[in-house]
Amino acid sequence: QEAHAAELERTFIAIKPDGVQRGLIAEIISRFERKGYKLVAIKLIVPSKEFAQTHYHDLKDRPFFNGLCDFLSSGPVLAMVWEGEGVIKYGRKLIGTTDPQKSEPGTIRGDLAVVVGRNIIHGSDGPETARNEIALWFEPSELVSYASNAEKWLY
Ligand code: TYD
Repeated sequence: QEAHAAELERTFIAIKPDGVQRGLIAEIISRFERKGYKLVAIKLIVPSKEFAQTHYHDLKDRPFFNGLCDFLSSGPVLAMVWEGEGVIKYGRKLIGTTDPQKSEPGTIRGDLAVVVGRNIIHGSDGPETARNEIALWFEPSELVSYASNAEKWLY
């Protein structure tokens, strides 16, 4: 149903430097793929500290802000945009809660991370954040639109 597919929502997901260095890229991508979400943009980049500060600007008054921005800019980050029905909220569910100690087993942070400062993955927390983060990390031309064969079985 093409009309429906055109309305599918998008979210920004990033594997942080710890997740990349620990070799968890395939594991994490696989969870989003198997769920039925569609990858529409992906790139590996080392963000500058200034870029990290812009990404996390909402947290600029928190005590961990500086360390967080140092960490995000310390190595390669795998930036992605995923598309599908409910992907913003359900993507957060796949990721788990901010503190891996409180994340349920079965979630990405619950299964693969131990402490809040090294929680391996970022996901937009709402529609407005998703729009802003996608625009911050990607040029419109980097978002690929394509028909996926799976869609007629998913929707
Ligand atoms: P936040 O946006 O609150 O969480 P989430 O990533 O789940 O949306 O915080 C952003 C990141 O800041 C979080 O992933 C890890 C880091 N952080 C800390 O290092 N210490 C803290 O106490 C909190 C709340 C977050």
